Amino acid sequence: MRMLDIIARKRQGFKHTEEEIAFVVKVASDPKAGVPDYQLTSWLMAVCCRGMDEIETAALTRAMALSGRRLDLKRLRAPKVDKHSTGGVGDGISLALAPLMAAAGLVVPMMSGRGLGHTGGTLDKLEAMKGFRVRMGIDEITSQLGRIGVCMFGQTQDLAPADRTLYSLRDASSTVESVPLVVASILSKKFAEDLDALVLDVKIGSGAIFKNPKQAQELSRALVKTARKLGLKAVAVLTAMDQPLGRYVGNSLEVIQAVEILRGDFTSADYAECLLTLGGWMMHLGGKAKDPKEGAAKLESVIRSGAALESFQKMVEAHGADPRVVCDLDRLPRAAKEREILAPKAGYVTWLDARKVGEAAVILGAGRANKDSKLDYGAGFVLDKKVGARVKKGECVARIHGSDGAKMEEAAAYFLTALKIEGKKPKLMPVIRQVVK
Ligand code: URA
Repeated sequence: MRMLDIIARKRQGFKHTEEEIAFVVKVASDPKAGVPDYQLTSWLMAVCCRGMDEIETAALTRAMALSGRRLDLKRLRAPKVDKHSTGGVGDGISLALAPLMAAAGLVVPMMSGRGLGHTGGTLDKLEAMKGFRVRMGIDEITSQLGRIGVCMFGQTQDLAPADRTLYSLRDASSTVESVPLVVASILSKKFAEDLDALVLDVKIGSGAIFKNPKQAQELSRALVKTARKLGLKAVAVLTAMDQPLGRYVGNSLEVIQAVEILRGDFTSADYAECLLTLGGWMMHLGGKAKDPKEGAAKLESVIRSGAALESFQKMVEAHGADPRVVCDLDRLPRAAKEREILAPKAGYVTWLDARKVGEAAVILGAGRANKDSKLDYGAGFVLDKKVGARVKKGECVARIHGSDGAKMEEAAAYFLTALKIEGKKPKLMPVIRQVVK
């Protein structure tokens, strides 16, 4: 079998056989196979343009899932449940959710990724806490899960190696927006975690992979169906990503958001709703609540008891960072400079484009302009006014954190292109749009 022939077949619109898919996954998982990145990228583009049917998608997912080793968590008695988001701006939900769920009695093995394009990545946010180690081996992950019920880690050459290669090529070749490729990428990682159940947070809106609700629904159905084929209980919750989630965008800043909510401060209402809804479903699928509503109520009590914050602290310590960050947020990296972005006119905020805010954060260094860019962990935005808020002319709508004055000016100007202020109060759209079971 030759990679060139496989690319040509997909380019011409043929369906792949299981053997062809197995071949692509094998060479993508093995750097010694000698298949150059440009051939893998051409194949990704062919799939992006021609698509895959349900059978091909399931075969790709299964082959990628089996491309590496798998955790073996059978000896842990608690239900193993995880959440995965398709990615957004200000979406630091995982930072609070994983330790919260461990405090509620679930085991959460959470394999996460780095920022992609305008979206932030959980691993980058965790690493904002100095010393936080996410490169871990299978034995270490398993042992930490046994001790504290939560572990947040990155892919390795052992765990889902095919996705590791393909994901970085997709980011650099405009081939992220493909339902079969997203399904296989997400579920191959989740399969390697040896889960009982999975909650998928599928974002819809300007800052999401798929802006259009129809495509987001198609992705949700494909994720749930393919997960079932792999023997995994799953639901997809479609959530809003037209404006950034929560009050903070940036790595250190999103750690602050997580600590605030685990301390019982629910003022970032959209972030809190998203956290409790996704967590409520995890409780329900993990058998800890009769329905997601009861699950969410239980989680609120876990937060109010202080147990969730304690779980976060234990997690930070187990990963090698300073747990005192929980009591003293000044231990997090902070940007050297801060300045206000002022409302150019009076009215109501009717639009705050998530994608543009994410791109403005990349200008500041909070995200990567390319694979090798160095992050500025303290950089980002604090959003004082979100959609629906009334503002006076010259009032602060957001505070920009950065270290390079010129970049801050550029990012502030770009941020203003994301903002619309109009005379009429907008109709507020719900954060939770739909659940696909
Ligand atoms: N998240 C992933 O893990 N993979 C994708 O392809 C998209 C979002």
